[in-house]
Amino acid sequence: MSADPIPLEDVLVTERENWQDGPPHELFKAMRAGCPVHWTDKITEYPDEAGFWSVTLADDIHTVSRDWETYSSERGGITLLTNAVMPLELIQAMFIGMDPPKHDRLKALFQRGFTPKRIAEHEQAIRDITERVLDRLEGRETADLTTDVAQPVVARVIGSFMGIPPEDDEIWANLMNTTLGAGDPDLNPEGTETVMQRDVPEIFERCRKLIAERRENPTDDLTSVLVHAEIDGQKLEEHEIVMGFFLLMAAGNDSTKSTYCSAMRAIMEDDEQRRKLLDDMSLVPSAVEEALRMFPAFAHFRRTATKDTVLNGQPIKEGDKVAMWYVSSNRDESRYEDPDHFDVTRNPEHQAFGAGGRHFCLGTALARLELRILIEETLKRFPDIRIDGTPRFVESPFINQLKTLPVRLQG
Ligand code: HEM
Repeated sequence: MSADPIPLEDVLVTERENWQDGPPHELFKAMRAGCPVHWTDKITEYPDEAGFWSVTLADDIHTVSRDWETYSSERGGITLLTNAVMPLELIQAMFIGMDPPKHDRLKALFQRGFTPKRIAEHEQAIRDITERVLDRLEGRETADLTTDVAQPVVARVIGSFMGIPPEDDEIWANLMNTTLGAGDPDLNPEGTETVMQRDVPEIFERCRKLIAERRENPTDDLTSVLVHAEIDGQKLEEHEIVMGFFLLMAAGNDSTKSTYCSAMRAIMEDDEQRRKLLDDMSLVPSAVEEALRMFPAFAHFRRTATKDTVLNGQPIKEGDKVAMWYVSSNRDESRYEDPDHFDVTRNPEHQAFGAGGRHFCLGTALARLELRILIEETLKRFPDIRIDGTPRFVESPFINQLKTLPVRLQG
């Protein structure tokens, strides 16, 4: 970005050209230094969507994230696109798109099942799933870690939590990919509208069937929790159940997949870091935290100001969109030495799961366990694994994910 002739104030952060090869880290670095709360005037691709504030420093994101009364998740949705991919009323039907008190009541239904202790009970099952997927690579010379490893593992893990039959994993994973990566030309060659017209209705249709089954026969899966949940004596409406299901599926699928692939890429690109891990596998949990820091699966989440306010000296008006750029705060120079360096011994704190507050990720324990097992098992089985081709990013200012990671398995 140093060669960029555009003055920082005129930069439009989410323009396509900035996201061709992953997040624009140089741009965010310049924003942190020169304009940490930055205004983008428009989103050219979506002329009906208003401009937005970008918050790029870790301390400021912490402030926004903890103050739900000033920065609402409900009022305008949770990504910079209020209505363009999914209607706002559907986003508001997920607890990630709600404010307290309803948010807190719904989230509480799930929290018991996601504690580190409860999640640890799934370790063997997750290891078995991972081993079975890696078994399929035996005898092959090359593979794509996104589609051959990450996708089938994370889809089966969250699928088993949700009560989805294994034969439907691929269908669900594809639906999640197209809705979350809506703007990407490979994932959606027919454009964003098809997501609204084809994929969202398919999600509803498939979900309705599952819901009907669970109404008849409750099980101990998370779909049953949603179907039978009562908030203030009232059952959830059907669209709330569907969107609760969608939230858990989407959050569980793409995020872990993204972080695993980015972590493996970084490990394969740096022989010294790979050697450290192979010599001492007890470093894997630290490598997981470092991967979460450097490659947060969600580039941003968004809030909407509920009143006129001031953030780090910058006045913000009621109704303004406010983006918390985790891809920036996780490389904030005031928190990290040499922030662009992947160091498996760093074991950092970070904001990949959010910056505290009401919406802090529900799935941290599950994500950490899956990532640890995936990295351990991949490295044990293929210690000399190498990148074999050009990894490509999903073109999206929201999901920070490789869509291809071609590898040579035996070095
Ligand atoms: C590497 C993996 C993951 C990352 C980086 C990640 C990241 C995040 C982030 C940043 C948020 C907060 C959004 C905000 O501040 O508004 C969030 C929320 C959430 N995550 Fe995760 N997540 C991951 C894995 C998972 C998994 C495996 C699940 C399991 C179902 C999950 C379920 C959720 C849910 C339900 C929320 C909404 C919480 C709320 O609104 O209170 N996540 N996640």
